[in-house]
Amino acid sequence: MYYLAPSILAADFTRLGEQIREAGEAGAELLHLDVMDGRFVPSISFGMPVLRSLQSLRPQSRLLFDVHLMIEEPDRYLEEFVGCGADILTVHVESCRHLHRTVAHIRELGSKAGVALNPATSPEVLKYILPELDMVLVMSVNPGFGGQSFLPFTLEKIKEIRRMADEAAPKLLIEVDGGINLETVCPVLEAGANVFVAGTAVFEGSITENVKGFKEVFARWK
Ligand code: DX5
Ligand code: ZN
Repeated sequence: MYYLAPSILAADFTRLGEQIREAGEAGAELLHLDVMDGRFVPSISFGMPVLRSLQSLRPQSRLLFDVHLMIEEPDRYLEEFVGCGADILTVHVESCRHLHRTVAHIRELGSKAGVALNPATSPEVLKYILPELDMVLVMSVNPGFGGQSFLPFTLEKIKEIRRMADEAAPKLLIEVDGGINLETVCPVLEAGANVFVAGTAVFEGSITENVKGFKEVFARWK
């Protein structure tokens, strides 16, 4: 199975609820929520109040909340983000001093746990904890902004994580984030990813048509 995770960073925030509903009705499975603190990444996006208010969409939508924390010291906020409805909570390895403890804490709180790797970070850091993760998020741009171009060298890393997962954690989700569109999604599928974040490629133009475009590629790939 392949899953699409539209990132609301590229949405029109004056029509956020409406646009999220449209993405869900068109067939997206996850809702990717990019939390940025202006320290781990240069930009500041949104935080708990936005996530909390998006909870009101739950009765009408089956989108799972995929929360991507691009923040320093994420341990300080895990409980609050799970409380805001994170179904999958992802922290960056570069911001965690005790990654194993952080991952265990996320799971104890009742959320699925993800770990994100910046483009320059080797997957070697995950070797010993892979079976304890629900998802690995491979950044295919340097995090901080939407609308950047996909970095092709990350394909090799996705392949490496796929090999590691096949051996040690076959159910692991491998999510790729940054510069994903109808062209770049193909080599990423080929490399072995199964969750695809797309901001610009979903929210620019017709959301319904864009989501359907991805779903068609996924259907052909099976
Ligand atoms: C970047 C974010 C991404 C971003 C993707 O730091 O983590 O999720 O929204 O945007 P696009 O798909 O436009 O590259
Ligand atoms: Zn993201």
